[in-house]
Amino acid sequence: MGTLDGKIALVSGSGRGIGRAIALKLASHGARVVINDLDPEPAEETLTAIKAAGGEAVACVGSVTDEDFADRFVATAVDNYGGVDIVINNAGYTWDSVIQKMTDEQWDAILDVHLKAPFRILRAAQPVISARAKAEQADGLRVHRKIVNISSIAGLGGNAGQANYGAAKAGIVGLTKTLAKEWGRYAVNVNAVAYGLIRTRLTEAAADSDSTIDVQGRQIKVGVNPGLLTAMEQMIPLGRAGTPEEAAGAVYLLCLPESDYISGQVVVCGGGYS
Ligand SMILES: NC(=O)c1ccc[n+]([C@@H]2O[C@H](COP(=O)([O-])OP(=O)(O)OC[C@H]3O[C@@H](n4cnc5c(N)ncnc54)[C@H](O)[C@@H]3O)[C@@H](O)[C@H]2O)c1
Repeated sequence: MGTLDGKIALVSGSGRGIGRAIALKLASHGARVVINDLDPEPAEETLTAIKAAGGEAVACVGSVTDEDFADRFVATAVDNYGGVDIVINNAGYTWDSVIQKMTDEQWDAILDVHLKAPFRILRAAQPVISARAKAEQADGLRVHRKIVNISSIAGLGGNAGQANYGAAKAGIVGLTKTLAKEWGRYAVNVNAVAYGLIRTRLTEAAADSDSTIDVQGRQIKVGVNPGLLTAMEQMIPLGRAGTPEEAAGAVYLLCLPESDYISGQVVVCGGGYS
Protein backbone atom coordinates (compact mmCIF):
# COMPACT_ATOMS: atom_id res chain seq x y z
CA MET A 1 0.00 0.00 0.00
CA GLY A 2 1.39 3.41 -0.99
CA THR A 3 0.78 6.47 1.17
CA LEU A 4 -0.72 8.26 -1.86
CA ASP A 5 -2.58 5.36 -3.49
CA GLY A 6 -5.41 6.56 -5.71
CA LYS A 7 -4.44 10.24 -5.50
CA ILE A 8 -4.30 12.29 -8.70
CA ALA A 9 -1.42 14.79 -8.77
CA LEU A 10 -0.54 17.59 -11.19
CA VAL A 11 3.11 18.69 -11.18
CA SER A 12 4.10 21.63 -13.40
CA GLY A 13 7.66 21.86 -14.73
CA SER A 14 8.30 18.18 -13.99
CA GLY A 15 10.64 17.45 -16.90
CA ARG A 16 13.73 18.43 -14.93
CA GLY A 17 15.14 19.22 -11.51
CA ILE A 18 12.89 19.53 -8.49
CA GLY A 19 9.61 19.00 -10.39
CA ARG A 20 10.91 15.76 -11.89
CA ALA A 21 11.95 14.52 -8.44
CA ILE A 22 8.52 15.48 -7.03
CA ALA A 23 6.69 13.63 -9.81
CA LEU A 24 8.83 10.50 -9.31
CA LYS A 25 8.39 10.68 -5.54
CA LEU A 26 4.59 11.07 -5.64
CA ALA A 27 4.28 8.32 -8.27
CA SER A 28 6.49 5.97 -6.26
CA HIS A 29 4.02 6.32 -3.38
CA GLY A 30 1.02 5.45 -5.55
CA ALA A 31 -0.16 8.78 -6.99
CA ARG A 32 -1.17 9.00 -10.66
CA VAL A 33 0.69 12.01 -12.00
CA VAL A 34 0.07 14.57 -14.74
CA ILE A 35 3.54 15.60 -15.90
CA ASN A 36 4.12 18.98 -17.54
CA ASP A 37 7.06 20.75 -19.10
CA LEU A 38 7.71 23.47 -21.59
CA ASP A 39 10.04 21.05 -23.36
CA PRO A 40 8.54 17.80 -24.70
CA GLU A 41 11.69 15.61 -24.42
CA PRO A 42 12.28 15.98 -20.67
CA ALA A 43 8.54 15.58 -20.04
CA GLU A 44 8.64 12.33 -22.00
CA GLU A 45 11.72 11.21 -20.08
CA THR A 46 9.98 11.73 -16.71
CA LEU A 47 6.95 9.85 -17.99
CA THR A 48 9.13 6.93 -19.10
CA ALA A 49 10.97 6.90 -15.76
CA ILE A 50 7.70 6.76 -13.80
CA LYS A 51 6.29 3.98 -15.97
CA ALA A 52 9.56 2.02 -15.82
CA ALA A 53 9.28 2.10 -12.02
CA GLY A 54 5.72 0.71 -12.21
CA GLY A 55 3.92 4.05 -11.71
CA GLU A 56 1.16 5.76 -13.64
CA ALA A 57 1.52 9.10 -15.42
CA VAL A 58 0.38 11.09 -18.42
CA ALA A 59 1.92 14.22 -19.95
CA CYS A 60 0.45 17.66 -20.66
CA VAL A 61 3.23 19.44 -22.56
CA GLY A 62 3.34 23.22 -23.00
CA SER A 63 4.07 26.49 -21.25
CA VAL A 64 2.16 27.14 -18.04
CA THR A 65 1.90 30.74 -19.26
CA ASP A 66 -0.19 29.82 -22.32
CA GLU A 67 -3.69 31.25 -22.19
CA ASP A 68 -5.38 27.83 -22.41
CA PHE A 69 -2.84 25.91 -20.36
CA ALA A 70 -4.63 25.79 -16.99
CA ASP A 71 -7.79 24.34 -18.50
CA ARG A 72 -5.80 21.77 -20.48
CA PHE A 73 -3.78 20.75 -17.41
CA VAL A 74 -6.87 20.21 -15.24
CA ALA A 75 -8.75 18.50 -18.11
CA THR A 76 -5.84 16.08 -18.59
CA ALA A 77 -6.20 14.99 -14.96
CA VAL A 78 -10.00 14.76 -15.11
CA ASP A 79 -10.16 13.00 -18.49
CA ASN A 80 -7.46 10.45 -17.68
CA TYR A 81 -7.93 9.86 -13.97
CA GLY A 82 -11.24 11.46 -12.96
CA GLY A 83 -10.27 14.30 -10.61
CA VAL A 84 -7.66 16.47 -8.91
CA ASP A 85 -6.24 15.68 -5.45
CA ILE A 86 -2.79 17.29 -5.41
CA VAL A 87 -1.47 20.33 -7.32
CA ILE A 88 2.20 21.26 -7.24
CA ASN A 89 2.95 24.65 -8.83
CA ASN A 90 6.65 24.24 -9.57
CA ALA A 91 7.43 25.34 -13.18
CA GLY A 92 9.71 28.32 -13.53
CA TYR A 93 13.06 29.88 -14.29
CA THR A 94 14.98 33.02 -13.47
CA TRP A 95 15.84 36.03 -15.60
CA ASP A 96 17.96 38.27 -13.40
CA SER A 97 19.10 41.89 -13.59
CA VAL A 98 19.56 44.74 -11.19
CA ILE A 99 16.44 46.90 -11.22
CA GLN A 100 17.88 49.67 -13.41
CA LYS A 101 18.56 47.11 -16.14
CA MET A 102 15.38 45.08 -15.75
CA THR A 103 12.95 45.46 -18.63
CA ASP A 104 9.17 45.27 -18.47
CA GLU A 105 9.46 42.08 -20.53
CA GLN A 106 11.69 40.49 -17.88
CA TRP A 107 9.38 41.56 -15.08
CA ASP A 108 6.24 40.31 -16.83
CA ALA A 109 7.75 36.99 -17.93
CA ILE A 110 8.81 36.07 -14.40
CA LEU A 111 5.58 37.26 -12.76
CA ASP A 112 3.63 35.31 -15.40
CA VAL A 113 5.39 32.00 -14.89
CA HIS A 114 5.76 32.06 -11.09
CA LEU A 115 2.55 33.81 -10.04
CA LYS A 116 -0.09 34.25 -12.75
CA ALA A 117 0.24 30.67 -14.02
CA PRO A 118 -0.27 29.11 -10.54
CA PHE A 119 -3.24 31.46 -10.01
CA ARG A 120 -4.81 30.31 -13.29
CA ILE A 121 -4.14 26.61 -12.59
CA LEU A 122 -5.73 26.83 -9.15
CA ARG A 123 -8.67 28.82 -10.53
CA ALA A 124 -9.22 26.14 -13.18
CA ALA A 125 -9.02 23.38 -10.56
CA GLN A 126 -11.55 25.03 -8.23
CA PRO A 127 -14.78 23.75 -9.84
CA VAL A 128 -13.46 20.17 -9.90
CA ILE A 129 -12.26 20.34 -6.30
CA SER A 130 -15.35 22.03 -4.88
CA ALA A 131 -17.75 19.65 -6.69
CA ARG A 132 -15.89 16.60 -5.34
CA ALA A 133 -15.64 18.05 -1.83
CA LYS A 134 -19.36 18.86 -1.73
CA ALA A 135 -20.29 15.37 -2.95
CA GLU A 136 -17.97 13.77 -0.37
CA GLN A 137 -19.28 15.95 2.42
CA ALA A 138 -22.87 15.04 1.44
CA ASP A 139 -21.81 11.40 1.94
CA GLY A 140 -20.36 12.25 5.35
CA LEU A 141 -16.76 12.05 4.10
CA ARG A 142 -13.94 14.52 4.63
CA VAL A 143 -11.19 13.93 2.07
CA HIS A 144 -8.18 16.23 2.23
CA ARG A 145 -6.66 17.56 -0.95
CA LYS A 146 -3.25 19.22 -1.14
CA ILE A 147 -1.83 22.25 -2.91
CA VAL A 148 1.89 22.95 -2.66
CA ASN A 149 3.16 26.13 -4.28
CA ILE A 150 6.89 26.46 -4.81
CA SER A 151 8.47 29.62 -3.44
CA SER A 152 12.06 30.59 -2.65
CA ILE A 153 14.08 32.20 0.08
CA ALA A 154 14.43 35.03 -2.48
CA GLY A 155 10.70 35.64 -1.96
CA LEU A 156 11.00 35.62 1.83
CA GLY A 157 14.21 37.59 2.32
CA GLY A 158 14.91 39.17 -1.08
CA ASN A 159 17.93 38.60 -3.32
CA ALA A 160 19.91 41.25 -5.16
CA GLY A 161 19.37 40.99 -8.92
CA GLN A 162 16.01 39.27 -8.57
CA ALA A 163 13.41 42.04 -8.16
CA ASN A 164 11.07 40.16 -10.54
CA TYR A 165 11.67 36.70 -9.05
CA GLY A 166 11.65 37.89 -5.44
CA ALA A 167 8.35 39.70 -6.01
CA ALA A 168 6.78 36.67 -7.73
CA LYS A 169 7.98 34.26 -5.06
CA ALA A 170 6.64 36.58 -2.32
CA GLY A 171 3.38 36.84 -4.27
CA ILE A 172 2.93 33.08 -4.32
CA VAL A 173 3.08 33.14 -0.51
CA GLY A 174 0.16 35.61 -0.48
CA LEU A 175 -1.76 33.41 -2.91
CA THR A 176 -1.04 30.36 -0.72
CA LYS A 177 -2.25 32.02 2.48
CA THR A 178 -5.37 33.41 0.80
CA LEU A 179 -6.40 30.10 -0.73
CA ALA A 180 -5.79 28.32 2.57
CA LYS A 181 -8.58 30.55 3.90
CA GLU A 182 -10.86 30.19 0.87
CA TRP A 183 -10.46 26.42 0.46
CA GLY A 184 -10.52 25.23 4.06
CA ARG A 185 -14.21 24.52 3.60
CA TYR A 186 -13.33 22.04 0.84
CA ALA A 187 -10.77 20.36 3.15
CA VAL A 188 -7.91 21.54 0.93
CA ASN A 189 -4.54 22.14 2.59
CA VAL A 190 -2.73 24.96 0.80
CA ASN A 191 0.94 25.36 1.69
CA ALA A 192 4.18 26.58 0.12
CA VAL A 193 7.73 25.25 0.13
CA ALA A 194 10.45 27.90 -0.14
CA TYR A 195 13.73 26.43 -1.31
CA GLY A 196 17.19 27.62 -0.47
CA LEU A 197 19.96 26.35 -2.75
CA ILE A 198 19.06 23.13 -4.58
CA ARG A 199 21.39 21.72 -7.25
CA THR A 200 19.51 21.81 -10.56
CA ARG A 201 19.92 23.34 -14.01
CA LEU A 202 18.61 26.58 -12.51
CA THR A 203 21.52 26.84 -10.08
CA GLU A 204 24.39 25.30 -12.04
CA ALA A 205 27.46 27.52 -12.36
CA ALA A 206 26.68 29.85 -15.25
CA ALA A 207 30.27 29.67 -16.49
CA ASP A 208 30.02 25.87 -16.98
CA SER A 209 26.56 26.00 -18.44
CA ASP A 210 25.28 26.58 -21.93
CA SER A 211 21.68 25.81 -20.95
CA THR A 212 19.08 28.27 -22.13
CA ILE A 213 15.34 28.53 -21.76
CA ASP A 214 13.11 29.51 -24.65
CA VAL A 215 10.81 32.40 -23.72
CA GLN A 216 8.62 33.04 -26.75
CA GLY A 217 11.50 32.44 -29.12
CA ARG A 218 14.08 34.30 -27.03
CA GLN A 219 16.91 32.29 -25.41
CA ILE A 220 17.45 33.16 -21.73
CA LYS A 221 20.66 31.84 -20.19
CA VAL A 222 20.21 29.87 -16.98
CA GLY A 223 22.72 29.46 -14.15
CA VAL A 224 24.28 31.39 -11.29
CA ASN A 225 27.56 33.26 -10.92
CA PRO A 226 30.06 30.60 -9.64
CA GLY A 227 31.47 32.93 -6.95
CA LEU A 228 27.99 33.52 -5.61
CA LEU A 229 27.32 29.77 -5.54
CA THR A 230 30.39 29.09 -3.41
CA ALA A 231 29.55 31.98 -1.07
CA MET A 232 25.97 30.72 -0.70
CA GLU A 233 27.10 27.17 0.13
CA GLN A 234 29.36 28.52 2.85
CA MET A 235 26.39 30.19 4.54
CA ILE A 236 24.25 27.03 4.65
CA PRO A 237 24.33 25.50 8.16
CA LEU A 238 24.20 21.95 6.72
CA GLY A 239 27.23 22.94 4.62
CA ARG A 240 25.99 22.02 1.17
CA ALA A 241 23.29 22.59 -1.43
CA GLY A 242 20.28 20.27 -1.36
CA THR A 243 19.50 17.58 -3.92
CA PRO A 244 16.29 17.53 -6.00
CA GLU A 245 15.27 14.39 -4.08
CA GLU A 246 15.63 16.22 -0.75
CA ALA A 247 13.63 19.11 -2.21
CA ALA A 248 10.89 16.66 -3.26
CA GLY A 249 10.81 15.27 0.26
CA ALA A 250 9.56 18.59 1.65
CA VAL A 251 6.67 18.61 -0.84
CA TYR A 252 5.87 14.96 -0.13
CA LEU A 253 5.49 15.71 3.61
CA LEU A 254 2.80 18.28 2.77
CA CYS A 255 0.92 15.72 0.62
CA LEU A 256 0.65 13.11 3.36
CA PRO A 257 -2.39 12.59 5.63
CA GLU A 258 -0.05 13.36 8.56
CA SER A 259 -0.11 17.02 7.42
CA ASP A 260 -3.92 17.23 7.23
CA TYR A 261 -4.03 19.94 9.90
CA ILE A 262 -1.28 22.12 8.41
CA SER A 263 -2.46 24.85 6.03
CA GLY A 264 -1.43 28.35 5.00
CA GLN A 265 2.22 27.69 5.93
CA VAL A 266 5.57 28.19 4.23
CA VAL A 267 8.10 25.43 4.88
CA VAL A 268 11.67 26.54 4.21
CA CYS A 269 13.74 23.72 2.70
CA GLY A 270 17.18 25.28 2.78
CA GLY A 271 19.53 23.22 4.93
CA GLY A 272 19.06 25.66 7.81
CA TYR A 273 19.65 28.79 5.70
CA SER A 274 16.82 31.28 5.62
N1 LIG B 1 17.03 25.18 -7.56
C1 LIG B 1 16.92 26.05 -6.56
O1 LIG B 1 17.88 26.30 -5.82
C2 LIG B 1 15.61 26.74 -6.30
C3 LIG B 1 15.55 27.61 -5.22
C4 LIG B 1 14.35 28.24 -4.93
C5 LIG B 1 13.24 27.98 -5.70
N2 LIG B 1 13.33 27.15 -6.76
C6 LIG B 1 12.12 26.93 -7.57
O2 LIG B 1 11.92 25.55 -7.78
C7 LIG B 1 11.20 25.38 -9.01
C8 LIG B 1 11.91 24.34 -9.87
O3 LIG B 1 13.19 24.82 -10.24
P1 LIG B 1 14.42 23.85 -10.58
O4 LIG B 1 15.55 24.30 -9.76
O5 LIG B 1 14.01 22.43 -10.52
O6 LIG B 1 14.72 24.31 -12.08
P2 LIG B 1 14.98 23.44 -13.41
O7 LIG B 1 15.35 24.41 -14.45
O8 LIG B 1 15.89 22.30 -13.13
O9 LIG B 1 13.54 22.81 -13.72
C9 LIG B 1 12.42 23.64 -13.98
C10 LIG B 1 11.60 23.01 -15.08
O10 LIG B 1 10.48 23.89 -15.33
C11 LIG B 1 10.31 23.98 -16.72
N3 LIG B 1 9.66 25.24 -17.07
C12 LIG B 1 10.17 26.49 -17.03
N4 LIG B 1 9.29 27.38 -17.47
C13 LIG B 1 8.18 26.68 -17.80
C14 LIG B 1 6.92 27.04 -18.33
N5 LIG B 1 6.64 28.30 -18.67
N6 LIG B 1 6.00 26.06 -18.52
C15 LIG B 1 6.28 24.77 -18.22
N7 LIG B 1 7.46 24.38 -17.74
C16 LIG B 1 8.41 25.32 -17.53
C17 LIG B 1 11.70 23.90 -17.32
O11 LIG B 1 11.67 23.51 -18.70
C18 LIG B 1 12.35 22.88 -16.41
O12 LIG B 1 12.24 21.56 -16.92
C19 LIG B 1 11.09 26.76 -9.65
O13 LIG B 1 9.84 27.33 -9.33
C20 LIG B 1 12.19 27.53 -8.95
O14 LIG B 1 11.98 28.91 -8.95
C21 LIG B 1 14.49 26.50 -7.08
